[in-house]
Amino acid sequence: MEDMSRDEKRLLRHLRRNQTVVTEKVPRSGHTLLQRPTSSSDFTASSPNETNAKQSGATNVTGTTGASSTSDTTGANSVGNQQAAHTSFPAVLPPLKLGNITVPFPVVLSPMAGVTNWPFRVICEQFCPGGLFIDEMITARALVANNVKAWRLARFAPSEKIRSIQLYGVNPHFVEKAAQLIVQKVHPDHIDLNYGCPVPKITRHGGGSALPWKQDLFREDIRRVVRVCAPENIPVTVKIRTGIDADHLTYLDAVQIAQDEGCAAVILHARTTAEYYGGHSDWSAIARLKQKLDIPVIGNGDVFSAEDALDMVRQTGCDGVAIGRGAQGRPWLFADIQHAFAGSDERFNPDLGEVCHIMLQQAHMLVDFYDGNERMAVHDMRKHTAWYLRGFPVGGAVRRQFMECESIDQMKDVMDHLDHSLHILPGHTGMPHGRIQYQKKVHLPYGWLDSRTTTSEERTILFGEDPLDASY
Ligand SMILES: Cc1cc2nc3c(=O)[nH]c(=O)nc-3n(C[C@H](O)[C@H](O)[C@H](O)COP(=O)(O)O)c2cc1C
Repeated sequence: MEDMSRDEKRLLRHLRRNQTVVTEKVPRSGHTLLQRPTSSSDFTASSPNETNAKQSGATNVTGTTGASSTSDTTGANSVGNQQAAHTSFPAVLPPLKLGNITVPFPVVLSPMAGVTNWPFRVICEQFCPGGLFIDEMITARALVANNVKAWRLARFAPSEKIRSIQLYGVNPHFVEKAAQLIVQKVHPDHIDLNYGCPVPKITRHGGGSALPWKQDLFREDIRRVVRVCAPENIPVTVKIRTGIDADHLTYLDAVQIAQDEGCAAVILHARTTAEYYGGHSDWSAIARLKQKLDIPVIGNGDVFSAEDALDMVRQTGCDGVAIGRGAQGRPWLFADIQHAFAGSDERFNPDLGEVCHIMLQQAHMLVDFYDGNERMAVHDMRKHTAWYLRGFPVGGAVRRQFMECESIDQMKDVMDHLDHSLHILPGHTGMPHGRIQYQKKVHLPYGWLDSRTTTSEERTILFGEDPLDASY
């Protein structure tokens, strides 16, 4: 107890006094991740390096789809969504059609730089076979330059059913070339284009969420990638924000361009660049897109619980739900959503022992991801560990010990001294965590907002500066 913060101690006392506050049911079967290993070999994952060729039957996966009716729920997301709240769609989603491929269960792991590499995607997919799990963004120019780190991101585990890659770029030449290389070498099932990144390093070069403002460039990037992918039947989607700020909204014309140019779906993170991650995303914008477009609309922003996912579907009528921060340290959220969409109130509430097992499994896969470099794997695990431990009353000292680990054995040592029967304290499930940042000054190239098309001078300046390493 002495290591715990005041809040943790208070919540633990409350939990002991009133055990009934933890009401979620914990299914023990069907999810192999929650079965403890019997030996360390249980953790080894085959390296995807040699298996990047598309496996037969990879595109049409069979899996569970949401079915039957859902119980009435009130979610945290009703605030800030009053505009959309009057509309009510049934929260039962059919499989998501992305051009030629079918996503049996229309829930998407939103791409996150430094997070959604193949080990994390495998963990999420095991909780929800049949979903779509998108790779973190990869910079087109870095792929073309044969950058080792960029190509490492373009790997898949053999178990991944839909091989989904996100590309980032500004210069249409590099974006097209990168798409060609990806198609030839990796044979993905789906390519998403990143037009939602708000970070200054990207937007000041006209990339990410700044790019849809320049309609000619946006159209050209998409057209070139669709042209590369069409002969291989690879669907292309775009992920966008609502605009640069409230006075410079881009999403309505951007999605029209995307649809006209042959995109298979759009993913809307319903915030502007200026909003960054602050406040609440405006789900009414997702509802508006649904009314405008023929292609599927995948809603994104502030889904932290199964109830939030139900609310988003009911309020917007979207065809799929994409989850970013809500999955950090909570990969079982995908299973919760699967249960919720099937009308079940079953939710995961893993104990610490089960979560440690997931952490070790991910750490072992990360060693493969980093080509055997355990130190890099364990360092990469640090942020995940902090997310996994959120809400567990383990105290600051334990968290610090994990942050100092340099090997998986050291992680195991720390784990051996924990009470594996602990559960996440009430109030820590389904709440926003991870990146919560507020209104930011938007950095754009000089004169960017003067016109909706690029001048030749602007293109010359931009394309020289398109950053090689464009991580979030
Ligand atoms: C750490 C982090 C990294 C991200 N990296 C990417 C990225 O590589 N590509 C992208 O399109 N969006 C990226 N995003 C945005 C998310 O995909 C998502 O759109 C955003 O977090 C809103 O969804 P959420 O409220 O479910 O988190 C990132 C977000 C976070 C927090």
